[in-house]
Amino acid sequence: MDAIEANNLRKTFGPVIAVDDVSITLPQGGIFGFLGPNGAGKTTVIRMLTGVLIPDAGSVRILGTDVNKDPLTAKLKMGVIPENGTVYSDLTAEQNILITAKFYGMDRASREERAGEILARLGLEERKNDLVRTFSKGMRQRISIACAIVHSPPVLILDEPTTGLDVYSRRLVIDTVRHMNREGSTVLLTTHNIEEANALCSMISIVNKGRIVATGSPEKLKKTFDTSRYVEISFDQPVGHELFKAPGITRTESWGDKWRVYTDDPDRAVKYLASLAERDHLTIVSIATSNPTLEEAFVRLTEGV
Ligand SMILES: Nc1ncnc2c1ncn2[C@@H]1O[C@H](COP(=O)(O)OP(=O)(O)O)[C@@H](O)[C@H]1O
Ligand SMILES: [Mg+2]
Repeated sequence: MDAIEANNLRKTFGPVIAVDDVSITLPQGGIFGFLGPNGAGKTTVIRMLTGVLIPDAGSVRILGTDVNKDPLTAKLKMGVIPENGTVYSDLTAEQNILITAKFYGMDRASREERAGEILARLGLEERKNDLVRTFSKGMRQRISIACAIVHSPPVLILDEPTTGLDVYSRRLVIDTVRHMNREGSTVLLTTHNIEEANALCSMISIVNKGRIVATGSPEKLKKTFDTSRYVEISFDQPVGHELFKAPGITRTESWGDKWRVYTDDPDRAVKYLASLAERDHLTIVSIATSNPTLEEAFVRLTEGV
């Protein structure tokens, strides 16, 4: 059974098509990322997956349960961090976790044991008796994740869990996501941070303008754009664009004091550039070949280059 199965989701707000025919199938076990720029439709998808927003069309199943037909059962299988966390400011850190645990029907002993364990994991032990209203944004987000994982949900859904956090909170959130995944939770998170998606996710869907434009492992997505590899070179004296016109070179850009020579065959391009330098008595000051990056895939897919 798949952890999340969404079919042909669609949502419009007036004239805006926020989500346009999005389907995803997430098998159990991985960390899956929704990567896209602001306004791409990530939050709208998450809200439909978690039963907060009713889609105009399409359906969602969480571990086999239809979210719109049986929302309560579906919600018990999920832990959710919405885009704007929903913690109770007038309760203490510990009370927030205990009350959430109670909502999920955990007995008193396991509520207390679990709260202690999670407070420690998220670096909140010393502040457990303080009101959340006195907390920084990073600490609030840690409470938010604490509440989302208190019942050890098989599916954990997080909307931009690290956006705007301090370095320490960010690391604790990421460590907790990894820990929950190791313990068996399937994770779906959204991010606009490419490096984070690269470091954390086993599979990524790149989302743009309400649609999924590519899906694959980070490495696979990078390879899709292998043709955009380049050789970066600088000489001891200025040279012109026309120098780089040769078979196998697709385009050339000046890049600071260097040139980026795009090619689908870096080996051939390097040899050509060396012979060029020899011929024109140029000294090569620096030369390097690029590896395709996820950023490149992302930019190309979301800017329609
Ligand atoms: N409640 C809403 N009312 C009107 N427009 C909305 C609403 N929610 C989202 N949108 C619009 O839908 C699009 C997608 O938004 P969102 O899902 O929040 O994107 P993301 O999370 O990727 O930044 C945007 O154009 C946004 O302005
Ligand atoms: Mg969003």
